[in-house]
Amino acid sequence: MENPSNQLISDKPLIIAIETSCDETAISILEDLHVISHGVHSQADLHAQYGGVFPTLAKREHARNLTPLLAQTIETFLKQTDIFSDTNCIENDSNRGESQLGESDLRKSKLGDESVYIPTETIEYIESLLAREEGLSASLIDYISKLNAGHFAYIKEKLRGIAVTYGPGLEPALWVGLSFAKALSAILDVPLFPINHMEGHIASVITDTINIKDPEYATSNRLDAIDFPAIALLISGGHTELVEIGSWHEYDVIGHTVDDAVGEAYDKAARVLGLPYPGGPEISKLASIYRESEKRAVDEMPVFTLPRPMLHSQDFNFSFSGLKTAVLYAVRDFKAVHENRELCDLEKQALAAEFEEAVREVLIKKTSKAIDAIGAKTLIIGGGVISNTYLRKKFTELSEKLNINLFIPEKNLTTDNATMIGLVAVLKILAGENGIMPHSPIFNDLKAQGNLSL
Ligand code: KG4
Ligand code: ZN
Repeated sequence: MENPSNQLISDKPLIIAIETSCDETAISILEDLHVISHGVHSQADLHAQYGGVFPTLAKREHARNLTPLLAQTIETFLKQTDIFSDTNCIENDSNRGESQLGESDLRKSKLGDESVYIPTETIEYIESLLAREEGLSASLIDYISKLNAGHFAYIKEKLRGIAVTYGPGLEPALWVGLSFAKALSAILDVPLFPINHMEGHIASVITDTINIKDPEYATSNRLDAIDFPAIALLISGGHTELVEIGSWHEYDVIGHTVDDAVGEAYDKAARVLGLPYPGGPEISKLASIYRESEKRAVDEMPVFTLPRPMLHSQDFNFSFSGLKTAVLYAVRDFKAVHENRELCDLEKQALAAEFEEAVREVLIKKTSKAIDAIGAKTLIIGGGVISNTYLRKKFTELSEKLNINLFIPEKNLTTDNATMIGLVAVLKILAGENGIMPHSPIFNDLKAQGNLSL
């Protein structure tokens, strides 16, 4: 079909990005390094009852959420184009602003009201790609076939590819996103860009989550400000890594946790203190109350002292399982001397603050050492744990002390999201990569890789 909006098509890459590696279902649409539309559906409340992420439940939820989230992000994207600017073409309502456009408007725009026709062989290919994902092929085919054909053609023409996380993460969860992305790539006949989730956390620092109409649109990209070599500290529920970055796509993991990840230690310590999952925000809340509390000076407060695992080891590795166990023992020992009494709020706050001090000291020491060893010019920090306000402040102080550029993502880009996955794909396109075309052997053979490393 001819696209009457051809003049709108820029040569900047438009990417639809998908992330399902853990308990967040996320889709973003980016134009170049700028976010046009994004959505995240967190399953954290659902998993809270299990005290951690339950993989088969995560898989089922991703399959349920992907199509509605795609519909929502596409709708937001379309509203931001000037595809509706000829208001005469929107039925009988010349005064209506873009933000009030309803679903019926999206179906009947100036591009006509024809729906998308999907050939039978494409439907069969999509059904085979999504055979293991319950209900997903039906919901996707239903959504696409009801889309306005003009809008579909417009998206297809602008789109440079579909980016998707294929590892590391929970394999059943990764598979849903990967299969969905393959199906979309087949329907739209655009290349697939399989992306490493950890590279996404690194790239999360190069944009703000802003709207295309934001006045800062042209200036908010930080790509040119990042000098190499850089060190990335990646701290999440599944990973604790120090990565040496020579340039984009040139990574060397120089340190990692030998047992639990730092976010995992937060989550487990929180469980010991009877706090809900995810534990990071809970512990950090208690710790900050304690740091600001005047009562902490009172004499009768018990002093909790926790270890700083591997603080003085010669390598760049971390260990956090001993810290979690030390929290368990601290609570047990406390009860033993206090006639089995539970910790009161102030005592829990004291223990949480000591836990956070131990984490801070180890992370800062190892990161400084890595910066020094490689002569890094830039420090990048990514992953859910760096949404922690205290750690952000301490790393900001460190960067001032070491006179090094610090890049920490906006808070909504610290936890898992699809924007960071799209950013990596854009970086790859800028570096000349073309992605993988549907139906090709590499495309068909591409698998989710739970243990993928950088
Ligand atoms: O990056 P992310 O969303 O998912 C993974 O890839 O793991 O990180 C989630 C982790 C959880 O362990 C959570 O407890 C931790 O990040 N987290 C925090 C904070 N907010 C989230 N840890 C410490 N302080 C926080 N404010
Ligand atoms: Zn993550």
